[in-house]
Amino acid sequence: MNDKVRVSNLNMTFVSDRLERHVTALDDINLSIDTGEFVCLLGPSGCGKTTLLNLIAGFLLPTSGSILVDGTAITGPGPERGMVFQEYGIFPWFTVAQNIAFGPRMRGASKQEQEEIVNHYVDLVHLKGFEHHYPGELSGGMKQRVSIARSLANGPDMLLMDEPFGALDAMTRETMQEELLRIWEMDKKTCVFVTHSIGEAVYLADRIVILSAHPGRVKDIVSVDLERLRNRSSAEYFDLYRHVDTILRQEMARSRDQEQVEEV
Ligand SMILES: Nc1ncnc2c1ncn2[C@@H]1O[C@H](COP(=O)(O)OP(=O)(O)OP(=O)(O)O)[C@@H](O)[C@H]1O
Ligand SMILES: [Mg+2]
Repeated sequence: MNDKVRVSNLNMTFVSDRLERHVTALDDINLSIDTGEFVCLLGPSGCGKTTLLNLIAGFLLPTSGSILVDGTAITGPGPERGMVFQEYGIFPWFTVAQNIAFGPRMRGASKQEQEEIVNHYVDLVHLKGFEHHYPGELSGGMKQRVSIARSLANGPDMLLMDEPFGALDAMTRETMQEELLRIWEMDKKTCVFVTHSIGEAVYLADRIVILSAHPGRVKDIVSVDLERLRNRSSAEYFDLYRHVDTILRQEMARSRDQEQVEEV
């Protein structure tokens, strides 16, 4: 068995006493992710992508069903599962080096170990010369590099990324996608990457998990058997893009129709 993550019969219902309502964010999700696989979660807003990622990270516990990582049920967050957030999640009052050293320092790494780790990851994410800058002095793309380096510095064997490039302009976003693949190719950490963007999913993923909305279910899983680095203007890339786009549009129409029925 090569599963890194196994999600079985997973349900997540949020109960709001204040609003006196329940929201079933995820309904009967079944999904296996291989070790070293790059999986994108794609779907309309509110379909439960962040919820699923937070469950895998251990920030939330499911209403029912299970998530096994390396065969063991998740009971909370752990350093082996590194999270990268859309809004970077780095400390503005720490320099680049201090942000990267944060996890290792908390684990009790010596000054010298911290320095080695900082040097290694600053190099990896191409931030040499910016070690002593504060996040406020960096561009969005650079901040996201710090965020990725900070997660990697904890030595995770999985990266969980929630629309990490959503706030970046189109050109920077493409560069960051290439950089992420370069880093991923080096030691093939298992990646679960949430995105709204079909192009991003087709460019990055081994498999695209398309979620449907209200409640979130696995609508379809599309394998992307194109060699990396992928050519964004090739016919194969465009065919896959169109295929995923058709599934998503059907899903949006279905969820709109359903909302209208509920309003009547
Ligand atoms: N803490 C919470 N309490 C109550 N409801 C929640 C909570 N978190 C999420 N939800 C609900 O669960 C559903 C899924 O939310 P989630 O944030 O996972 O969606 P998403 O796919 O990440 O959306 P987006 O693409 O907009 O980020 C939504 O209907 C949302 O209102
Ligand atoms: Mg989200």
